[in-house]
Amino acid sequence: TVSAYSPYAAEGPSIIAHRGASGYAPENTMAAFELAERLGADFIELDIRMSKDGELVVIHDKTVDRTTNEAGYVHDYTLQELQGMDAGSHFHADYADETIVSLEEVMDRFAGRIGILIEIKDPPLYPGIEEKLAEMVRRYEIIQDILGIGVSESIQGKEYIEDPGGRAGSEGIASSEGTAGIIIQSFDFNSMRRIHSLLPGIPAAVLIHADRHPLTDKTLDELASFASYINVSHDLLDGELVREILERNRKVMAWTIRNDQDMDRMKKLGVDGIITDYPG
Ligand code: G3P
Ligand code: CA
Repeated sequence: TVSAYSPYAAEGPSIIAHRGASGYAPENTMAAFELAERLGADFIELDIRMSKDGELVVIHDKTVDRTTNEAGYVHDYTLQELQGMDAGSHFHADYADETIVSLEEVMDRFAGRIGILIEIKDPPLYPGIEEKLAEMVRRYEIIQDILGIGVSESIQGKEYIEDPGGRAGSEGIASSEGTAGIIIQSFDFNSMRRIHSLLPGIPAAVLIHADRHPLTDKTLDELASFASYINVSHDLLDGELVREILERNRKVMAWTIRNDQDMDRMKKLGVDGIITDYPG
């Protein structure tokens, strides 16, 4: 069974702030996520990896070199060490207080307030990362249940929809359970298969870039058996691919949009979500 989250079905595509509002603030920091929320984004997108002590941390690259004042692999540092790193100065001196954050910190602050699109980066580097993430997402589902935050109320009245099932043989099921507004994605199809079996109520998404293109009917059918979303690099998207995805009752998001021209093209194609550095 596969679930689908359809925030803006009748109102145009969802806006997903890529690594937060990373056009205006340092990527994958609290400042970028807060700004995304203020700008009215429907979701924040973020990247996760694992620290030396097995915690989920929010950072795009394998190493801390590009986005902090330190050097080396993320998995060679403990969470506490990572949380002490300046993750803002590389963007602008005004952000020198921003640090690497844990996924837990982001979830504590934003779960139930804004959608969260979590990308698992390089899962083979971090054995057990899917289980760790599933455990965390389940914890938030329980918290939301206790607080009585229904799935549909928690994100501005938008709700999960019933998926009638695709040609790939999925049964289709109402996805009204599951933590509101969480979607999990990866370039790694096996990892998403694993996520779908661990968290069947949470939509899984596969990321498609040029290496996987063009997608054959067989591959699309296979992806549709576990993925609610096929999220495609915008330059690979055309009317035919959008139609093939929608025909399978799956959703499509375009990444990463950085100008008005691409934004307009994606809207015309009728994608379900636009992943952008400039959610404003
Ligand atoms: O959400 C899609 C996009 O984030 C994938 O590419 O490299 O920015 O993580 P990247
Ligand atoms: Ca990403």
